[in-house]
Amino acid sequence: MWRIVRLFTLHDPTWSMSHEQLPTDRPAVVTVGLPYANGDLHVGHLLGYVSGDLYARALRRIGQQTAFVCGSDMHGTPIAVNAAQEGRDPEEFALEYHEQYQETFPRFNVEFDNYGHTHDETNTELTQEFVRTWIDEGHVIEKEIEVAWDTETDDPLPDRYVEGTCPYCGEKARGDECDEGCQRHLEPGEIENPVSVTTGNPAEYRTREHKFLRLSDFQEYLQGFLDRLEGTEKARNQPREWIEGELEDLCITRDMDWGIDYPDESDGRENLVLYVWVDAPIEYVSSTKQYTERVGAEEYDWEAVWKPAGETRPGTEWNDEWTDTSGEIIHVIGADIIQHHCVFWPAMLRGAGYNEPRAVVATGFVGINGKSLSTSRNRAIWAREYLDTGFHPDLFRYYITTGSGVEHDVDFSWDRFAERVNGELVGNLGNFCYRALLFASRNYGGTPAADTSEEVHERIAEAVETFEEATRTYDVRTLGEVAIRLADFGNQYIQRNEPWNLIDDEPDAAAQVIHDCVQLTKACAILAQPVMPAKAAELWAQLDEDGDVSEATLDEVFSAPPETFDEPTELFAQVEDDDIEALNEQLAERIETKEEADEKAETEEDGDESHEAMTAQDVDPLEDERISFEQFQDIDMRVGEITEADPIEGADELVRLEVDIGVETRQVVAGLKQLHNVEALPGTRVILLANMQKAELFGVESDGMVLAAGEEADLLTTHEDAALGKRVR
Ligand code: MSP
Ligand code: ZN
Repeated sequence: MWRIVRLFTLHDPTWSMSHEQLPTDRPAVVTVGLPYANGDLHVGHLLGYVSGDLYARALRRIGQQTAFVCGSDMHGTPIAVNAAQEGRDPEEFALEYHEQYQETFPRFNVEFDNYGHTHDETNTELTQEFVRTWIDEGHVIEKEIEVAWDTETDDPLPDRYVEGTCPYCGEKARGDECDEGCQRHLEPGEIENPVSVTTGNPAEYRTREHKFLRLSDFQEYLQGFLDRLEGTEKARNQPREWIEGELEDLCITRDMDWGIDYPDESDGRENLVLYVWVDAPIEYVSSTKQYTERVGAEEYDWEAVWKPAGETRPGTEWNDEWTDTSGEIIHVIGADIIQHHCVFWPAMLRGAGYNEPRAVVATGFVGINGKSLSTSRNRAIWAREYLDTGFHPDLFRYYITTGSGVEHDVDFSWDRFAERVNGELVGNLGNFCYRALLFASRNYGGTPAADTSEEVHERIAEAVETFEEATRTYDVRTLGEVAIRLADFGNQYIQRNEPWNLIDDEPDAAAQVIHDCVQLTKACAILAQPVMPAKAAELWAQLDEDGDVSEATLDEVFSAPPETFDEPTELFAQVEDDDIEALNEQLAERIETKEEADEKAETEEDGDESHEAMTAQDVDPLEDERISFEQFQDIDMRVGEITEADPIEGADELVRLEVDIGVETRQVVAGLKQLHNVEALPGTRVILLANMQKAELFGVESDGMVLAAGEEADLLTTHEDAALGKRVR
């Protein structure tokens, strides 16, 4: 009873009246955004898969029957383009990645109940069935539209085959999405200044007939849907602006041959396939269906999740009686695909008579060392790279899911990784469990007989409460942290009670404290299982508990741990500085090599106008990491004047400068040869970084650095008459 009261008083925004509280007695499904079978997985992808896996495990833990499904996204133009560039068949190309993903996920302890792909039979059939229903229900219309065309090769250029400018925000956009700007989905014909990606030709618009899902049929429905939707705030609120005003129809066909055929045979048009965003989310349903086909409907019934009970087949008009068409469907996605999941997808489901999602959990983006993750800049940490380090996958899982709240961006840095693993896992959770079990096994051969003290019982109950609440509010970070916080309490508890001082004189008190600590350890194992399944299983085994910790229910946190168990081993190993240093270097080198290669390519491509136009505006992103005033004070910059300038022989760009900084004259090597008139340099006032490490270039020692901005090496100077040698601050 009190729990209901609390929910009301909390005014929890993720909780709405229209849903029965989790766990319900219906089956649930947790899905994660399908990876495009188009390249290696990186830590950005993994955030979603690990969060989804953690959440599915947590749901099961609170007693909800749950399937966790996903699959590879095999279609779409990026895959067709990349396969063609390698001269390969798109199916074979995509299947190779599909297999790679299937092998990679379990290595991060991401365990799907079913992992299919969008090109398989189940999904092909189900997708066509969805579309046929839309056609039958009158939701599909035909329209003539302008599509991009490469006039030289006489090919249509759907989606990613074109690049251009976003009509909404003016950023560079590719095909069907404004991925660097406003994140909007772009309909065919919307992109401005289209250029073919494959040939670089400016594209032309031509008139073609295409099929559309009439989204305006679902406008009112979607308003209500968003009011009912649970999940993260951004997923629930951002779509509101997109459904204000008349909803634009969604073009569901494309002129290409890689994809699922448009099902209406009477049409007879060749090379007309469904848009990738039609068959991709339907894979959520197909994958659940495949799971049922494997385990049997008695064990898990996909229709109970995805189809409304009874005879209801929702039509186009919203009807209050249909509020019960919500399935326990929970989508975990990245913030870049909110529109697809919170606008298009519910309309697609509704139009086909399926249940609507209960929640959409949109994670933030993963950045690297304070900058955005960029595969094109090679600023990424790849799944394989992490596995190659030999660090346990659960360390990654913990780090990435608790680095920030689930809907906020989270940074990956090896330094921070080491810091948190060493502090929170080795120093806190690992340390507490090891101390408790070692003391218990050495002195009592296992758990000493005693009842759990009231204080500890309450603290464990509070942790369980937090866990349940976090599951109901889709709070992935709290789910990841709850065991660590409990261990933190455990460490304080053991420190405060000093059982080692009690064992001789007050044996009962000592036994009580140690019993409590073993009980806390057991609770930690159960509560940590969703985020660190393998580590929790290790701890479970150390406690000599029976069965699988993944099957333990939440109540078991209170049941007595085994009377006997052996001495434990340490759960976590310290991450060493040397290893981190090596990893940092590896990353820095890779980014640099890529930048050099890009610069080279850029100079070679000079004169290529379309390329120029796209890169001219490139500006380095701002550093997110702030430095302290003290750090700034370490930088010794002085007002100087160039007194001599000679080109360095054999070096294309370098000049030797003498710079007078009042108290002395410095010899400096600078890359100014091609950008400045060397003869005119003497007399120029400059700013010199005076405490730069000395270097030798082409046999000339450089003792300082002249500051300049941008590609043209625009020299920094002062504008009044600060004396030479004055410090810049
Ligand atoms: N295939 C589509 C999703 C279809 S769902 C019906 C897609 N694929 S993707 O490979 O680009 O991304 C797969 C998932 O990873 C998506 O949920 C996406 O949001 C997520 N992420 C990709 N890069 C990411 C980060 N850098 N950070 C966080 N999530 C990221 O989109
Ligand atoms: Zn835009």
